[in-house]
Amino acid sequence: MRTLRDAAADADVHVGAAVDVDALRTDTDYRQTLAREFDAVTAENAMKWGPLADGERGYDFADADDVVEFADRHDMYVRGHALVWHRMYPEWVRPWTRSAADADRLLRNHIYTVAGRYRGRVDAWDVVNEAVADDGGLRETQWLDALGPEYVDRAFEYAADVSDADLFYNDYGADGLSAKADEVYDLVSDLVARGVPVDGVGLQLHVFDDLVPPADVAANVERLTDLGLDVHVTELDVGIGEAVADREAQAQYYHDVVAAAVDAGADTVVTWGVDDGQSWLPPLGHGEAPLLFDEEFARKPAHGAVVDALSE
Ligand code: XIL
Repeated sequence: MRTLRDAAADADVHVGAAVDVDALRTDTDYRQTLAREFDAVTAENAMKWGPLADGERGYDFADADDVVEFADRHDMYVRGHALVWHRMYPEWVRPWTRSAADADRLLRNHIYTVAGRYRGRVDAWDVVNEAVADDGGLRETQWLDALGPEYVDRAFEYAADVSDADLFYNDYGADGLSAKADEVYDLVSDLVARGVPVDGVGLQLHVFDDLVPPADVAANVERLTDLGLDVHVTELDVGIGEAVADREAQAQYYHDVVAAAVDAGADTVVTWGVDDGQSWLPPLGHGEAPLLFDEEFARKPAHGAVVDALSE
């Protein structure tokens, strides 16, 4: 059976997984599966501000470095995730009382520190993650509060100052055709029109309640690539339960959505984890067994389905 990695190379795309650093350090099967099957990685948590933080204003890069070193050793493409996000950042960043100048300095320092450290080693950064609110407009965050909508521009500009990576806007619920997908489209169209250095859009594609029709994903990928942007599927998982009934239906959906996205021009597909034992979805009650490998690292039908989708 062909590996995902072989199929991806033939299709000239990257196929990756989000990496859990504890599993990477302690589990030989995990490491072997990751290196054999995938040619791209992202840190599931290790590059977020909260996990990186070491005391007030300090950083501890040990976990993030491990992910990047593993990728170097196995010749993998690295997606950095995520520089600006409204979750998983240190408490001391939180107060919504900063002056604009203060907030701007904090944002710049963080981006310069993290994106600067990995210059030349991270290939793509999720610069801004989940900035669009579910009910429309930009989400209320301390950045929006202090700097206004321009904080998004600044984040991309600061990342461009210190990084040679491709710079992405990443979001959920904007995968297919939906009001939120339209908002994301409008946001990035406006960034492109104003010359803000955005290179791509990440579609998370967490699937656990409503199935996003693959044809809608294709249409969305096409309109985004028409703007001159790169598109990655960044956090794909498909929980068994409400969305798909069993492993076979799961495999079919994986096949159809990966084929649709890649045919429409997405050039990187990342699953949000390696194996079902490590997934974030089941503990949240969002379906079972959402990934391509089971808890024993055996290939599931969805694995073959993705290999097929990339081989067609
Ligand atoms: C999730 C991780 O998988 C969990 O381990 C963590 O507790 C919370 O964050 N959108 C994102 C990801 O952009 O960073 C999130 O990852 C899942 C939703």
